[in-house]
Amino acid sequence: MKVLVLGGGGREHALCWKIVQSPLVSEIFCTPGNAGIARIATCLSGDAVDVAREVGADFVVVGPDDLLAEGIVDRLTEAGIPAFGPTQQAAQLEASKLFCKELLRRYNIPTGDFAGFDSGAAAKAYLSQREGSFPIVVKADGLALGKGVVVAQTREEALEAVDHVIAAARGKERIVIEECLVGEEISLLAFTDGETVVPMVPAQDHKRVGEGDTGPNTGGMGCYSPVPVLTPELTTQAIETILKPTLQGLRSDGITFRGVLYAGLMLTADGLKVLEFNCRFGDPETQVLLPRLQSDLMPLLLACAGATQWEVRPLPQIPCEWTEQAAVTVVMASHGYPGTVRKGDAISGLEEAAQTGAIVFHAGTAQQDNQIVTSGGRVLSVTALGDVFHQARENVYRGVGQIHFDGAHFRRDIGWRCL
Ligand code: AMP
Ligand code: GLY
Repeated sequence: MKVLVLGGGGREHALCWKIVQSPLVSEIFCTPGNAGIARIATCLSGDAVDVAREVGADFVVVGPDDLLAEGIVDRLTEAGIPAFGPTQQAAQLEASKLFCKELLRRYNIPTGDFAGFDSGAAAKAYLSQREGSFPIVVKADGLALGKGVVVAQTREEALEAVDHVIAAARGKERIVIEECLVGEEISLLAFTDGETVVPMVPAQDHKRVGEGDTGPNTGGMGCYSPVPVLTPELTTQAIETILKPTLQGLRSDGITFRGVLYAGLMLTADGLKVLEFNCRFGDPETQVLLPRLQSDLMPLLLACAGATQWEVRPLPQIPCEWTEQAAVTVVMASHGYPGTVRKGDAISGLEEAAQTGAIVFHAGTAQQDNQIVTSGGRVLSVTALGDVFHQARENVYRGVGQIHFDGAHFRRDIGWRCL
């Protein structure tokens, strides 16, 4: 079958890398893609539905959250093209933090306390009178490229944060104010057809730009998997008390969620709590998870989407096996990231890195004549496996050490909690 992947980051390179390995796939396309994806897929630009029609795609796999929030799966379905990902209605779970928190409260799913406000003024009035303690978390209700969340240490900071997150959400005034949860963050992603939950192995992202978890938040600077603090018992607990009740709650509200349900969890002193849900594969979680997936990804994606014309079995019957090996992913970012980034720096050492056994996934890269150059904030995600965590870690940094571009920066402490 012909598969079209939407997106152009490290996550989509990892998806293409895994999808081309499937015996079910004859041709793969990507919109818009990047310089690394272009080596394994035909990259095209344009509207996703137009491209899908043009290339005769049999199945579309959606990467980014904003396309899902805009209803790309609904549009593809209307055009008769089966797609992997939730509908616009189901994607509200990520696109509206208030929708998510209200659902969690309604169905008694563990999460921090919160209050929602329709205007910045109302949120500020609440903050001015609030008696509880600080820090507190101020969030824009809608998608804001990771810039809509402020953990405020004081009342003054929280009041300032209100205007800041409204600006990040392009003027949308709906605000959520949340209890600040303390603990270790874990990403638990699962494949779902709306009812069955097929968990992936857990991963831990590193959101801050600087070593020791310092500096501003980013889209994610690196990941490792497995995550020893999320024991098999806690994983089962997360599935039974968080993932399944969330899907059941959505169904009770008339919404079937198909795709990847990604729980951002905090392991607090009071147990696991939901920080947020994402309705897609994580970036860079996908780059650390898919190299550990031994089974064919395509039957899982088709079964989640209910694409029965391909005669795949129902999701509970599809194999989903993971290697026992550990994996570590390190993101190499460009000069200025996560602020204003410089583009056009020449990248060298990609072949040498691959020769170390590392897998080099491209994110913000472009081909300029015979040279691959930087073209975005997160430039590359380098992944390596190892029999145990510290071997995977050594292997990945050996790969990263081969790659050079002006202004490159990356964290040297990915997985520090494991050491
Ligand atoms: P979100 O976009 O909601 O995942 O928030 C981005 C990041 O902000 C999370 O990965 C956490 O590190 C942090 N964060 C969000 N909500 C909370 C919370 N209630 N308590 C503590 N940290 C939070
Ligand atoms: N790694 C965080 C995210 O994908 O949202």
